[in-house]
Amino acid sequence: TTSSVFNRAVETVESLRLKLPEELSRPRVAIVCGSGLGGLKECVNKDEKFEEGKTEWEYKDVVNFPMSTVPGHEGKLIFSTMGPRRVPVVLLVGRAHFYEGHNMETVTFATRVCSLLGVQTMLLTNAAGGLSPDYAVGDIVCLNDHLNLAGLVGFHPLRGPNAEDFGTRFPPLSDAYDIQLRQLAHRSWEDLRQASDTRRRRMHEGVYAFVAGPSYETRAECRMLRQLGADVVGMSTVPEIVVARHCGMRVLAFSLVTNKAVLEPTVRADEPELRGLGREELDAYLGRGKANHEEVLEAGRGAAVDMQGLVLRIVSEL
Ligand code: 6GU
Repeated sequence: TTSSVFNRAVETVESLRLKLPEELSRPRVAIVCGSGLGGLKECVNKDEKFEEGKTEWEYKDVVNFPMSTVPGHEGKLIFSTMGPRRVPVVLLVGRAHFYEGHNMETVTFATRVCSLLGVQTMLLTNAAGGLSPDYAVGDIVCLNDHLNLAGLVGFHPLRGPNAEDFGTRFPPLSDAYDIQLRQLAHRSWEDLRQASDTRRRRMHEGVYAFVAGPSYETRAECRMLRQLGADVVGMSTVPEIVVARHCGMRVLAFSLVTNKAVLEPTVRADEPELRGLGREELDAYLGRGKANHEEVLEAGRGAAVDMQGLVLRIVSEL
């Protein structure tokens, strides 16, 4: 396309504002729901007063939203309010991933639309593999830093002519993960565990390594990421965070640990213990801790309720 990303984002915002009720047309918070975390849409206030088709759209019906729909992946934009103070919010249920073949501009387009809508705070969630031995499946990690591995080797969302309308050429990211929002997250988590049984699920702070995917990591790659200082690994969120910081939004991000990334050593074929084992026994030996998409979705189902309670408490305080 010839028109700039800024102009296309303006077009999207104008088309949404034509339909949106006044009360919802300037959301203060955007919430991005990751894999298996679409249940977050259950925490918005249910309003009968708004006409059908004026507050919710499939991505395919939003002007300039280019992300194709992958089967099983929801794609929905929802405008509503949250909490008793009726904070106006926009929910993004489902996101475009780099591994689907989109370029970084497409992956981050919705983030720029949020900025032009007037969003001040982005709250992002994802499913991730745990690298820290201290993390259990189902734990929540409040991100405090990241390793933009794809970005460091050239797949960076701000590569190319700088979109001056959004921000500066060389944005700092050393303070990307807003410390006040993280303090609020810890307080909200404490409140939540007072009020309800979070079944000893824990909330940590940690560093997220962004990889392009779509394969899960080898054992050697998991060890490498751990040695580089990562606590969780996943295939999303970081491009959106970089673009959100570029245009001056505050950022809070959570990973749900859906599986433990394989940290056991690479298995040597000359291991004496394995001598004489058949194919099935060998597969069973190797299969321990192997990542798969089904366990990722299952952990999401179990933890979604706590994540919802957490997000609702946080947004209510904003
Ligand atoms: Cl183990 N790796 C990556 N890259 N993404 C994940 C994951 C692992 N588990 C959930 N998402």
